[in-house]
Amino acid sequence: MRKILLQIDGREVEAKEGMTILEAARGAGIFIPTLCHHEKLEPYGACRICVVEVDAQRRTNLVAACLHPVEQDLVVRTRSEKVDKTRKILLEQFLAHAPDAEALQDLAQEYGADKNRFEKESSFCILCGLCVRYCAEVKKKNAVGFVDRGARREINFIPEIASKECWSCKECFPLCPTEALQAIYLLTEALAFPSPSSKPEPEE
Ligand code: SF4
Ligand code: FES
Repeated sequence: MRKILLQIDGREVEAKEGMTILEAARGAGIFIPTLCHHEKLEPYGACRICVVEVDAQRRTNLVAACLHPVEQDLVVRTRSEKVDKTRKILLEQFLAHAPDAEALQDLAQEYGADKNRFEKESSFCILCGLCVRYCAEVKKKNAVGFVDRGARREINFIPEIASKECWSCKECFPLCPTEALQAIYLLTEALAFPSPSSKPEPEE
């Protein structure tokens, strides 16, 4: 695979053709925040928190580092006024959904994001899609999926599948950057299938 040299935050970084900016940066120990990225999953580009500034063909653009491929001599900045401002606004939008989510707290502090800037939307889900994609791509079960579109889009467990598959798995739980996933699972469990603890004891 062809070797590519690019510059990230003033450092020369070596990458391979086909890698993303995020992969190249991580390989060089340069931090770029992510909320919807997972090494085992196809890049998705949902959260945009990994936005970076690139100079190419005499233009400066903001691109998603988890999607954008490395290019020879590309100049990348992982922090700049524009990058920080974009991340701040994105975080304020996410915080409207999940104001107390731990994964958002540190980032909010770093970028000066105000969790009260936008009106609260108590969905707690930021639609990163990690749970949905992990279940589909890694577990091949599709026990959790997106329903509806636009502002009404949300995730839901499919009770018929979840009641059979999720008990012994729950691998998606730690991936969720907010508290949404576990709460939605518990709700589905309570409404659609009895939990083991609520199952009646077998009669003697
Ligand atoms: S429930 Fe969690 S992991 Fe699933 S899409 Fe929402 S925020 Fe992402
Ligand atoms: S991590 Fe790149 S868009 Fe979410």
